[in-house]
Amino acid sequence: MSSTIILFASSRRNGNTGQLTDAVASELELDVIDLGEKDISAFDYEHRNRSDDFEPLMEKVLSVENIIFASPIYWYSVSPPMKTFIDRISDYLDLPDLLEKGRKLRGKKGYVICTCISDSPDEPFINAFRETFSYLGMDFGGFINANCSNGYKAQLYENDIRTFIEQL
Ligand SMILES: Cc1cc2nc3c(=O)[nH]c(=O)nc-3n(C[C@H](O)[C@H](O)[C@H](O)COP(=O)(O)O)c2cc1C
Repeated sequence: MSSTIILFASSRRNGNTGQLTDAVASELELDVIDLGEKDISAFDYEHRNRSDDFEPLMEKVLSVENIIFASPIYWYSVSPPMKTFIDRISDYLDLPDLLEKGRKLRGKKGYVICTCISDSPDEPFINAFRETFSYLGMDFGGFINANCSNGYKAQLYENDIRTFIEQL
């Protein structure tokens, strides 16, 4: 199995998405990186935020082959810290000293862990990842979604977790 990083962001660490993400992470024996605990500020055209936690985290992201993005679906979109993280990837497309590193995203595989209140994730949510990966030259590796309209029911997702992990 290739090297993998799990980036997680939800408004609650141990909610539905946190539980699904922890279940995947435990099978993979990986830590979950909680973007909400990092000091990552919003995208800034003037790049006055270069000393925050984003670039050190990106060093780790750029060192692996598989990047798992874990977020609940909030209004057809990702959670705010996940959006901020994705916005900041633009730094690696804009800043001359980061451009070469940013090109290392090409060929990596992106995966999505999500929870919502449907059996399938909302199209705008999953398409945003498909388009973003495509723009960055990454491959869309797959996703796992849990319908949490009645909370996260771990036993319902054991098979899906196995299938998801097999794609890595
Ligand atoms: C602010 C907010 C917006 C939501 N928007 C959607 C949505 O657009 N589509 C959907 O299927 N579920 C939506 N939900 C339901 C959540 O995706 C679902 O409860 C999810 O499992 C919550 O994960 P969490 O416990 O990690 O926050 C929303 C929930 C909240 C709190």
